[in-house]
Amino acid sequence: MKAPKKKPRRIMFVCLGNHCRSPLAHGYFQHLLKKYHLENEIEVVSSGTSGWHLGELPDSRVCRVAEKYGFSLRHIRGSKITRGDLKDCELILVMDHSNLRDVLLLDDQGQYAEKIKLLRTFDPESSQDEVPDPYYSGIFEEVYMIVSRACDALFEHIRSKPVA
Ligand code: 4NP
Repeated sequence: MKAPKKKPRRIMFVCLGNHCRSPLAHGYFQHLLKKYHLENEIEVVSSGTSGWHLGELPDSRVCRVAEKYGFSLRHIRGSKITRGDLKDCELILVMDHSNLRDVLLLDDQGQYAEKIKLLRTFDPESSQDEVPDPYYSGIFEEVYMIVSRACDALFEHIRSKPVA
């Protein structure tokens, strides 16, 4: 008899709009998983705290930066985080303190605080803990550098942990 299939571990990236930063982290992390043949072990999702870009493709500027570095974001569609995501994901990586506050508000019983972390705390080259919002400033290249460094370190962290 076949052994039952193991459920993939799931991680979620969260920003305000699910339009720039979290889709970039989502696509980059999937790209890393594919490179190491781990895409069936860990599922990646992303969402926004606002729901302003529900069902939309990520921002065209962030899609172009991703493509420049060899991966696509065109399979990602905007969604909004729900309370259920806190239960279903083993880690929730937020981009800034405002996202952190909004996600913690969903955790009204304080059960999931341990899983909710600022992505940039994994960035080995910075003592700053926020990924800046590029939507108005246009600093997409800089945001790519931050997100990719933080995701590389997060990847090593997750890979070294046994399957939950
Ligand atoms: P994100 O950036 O939180 O990185 O997706 C933003 C995207 C859209 C808006 C603000 C921030 N907006 O105002 O529509």
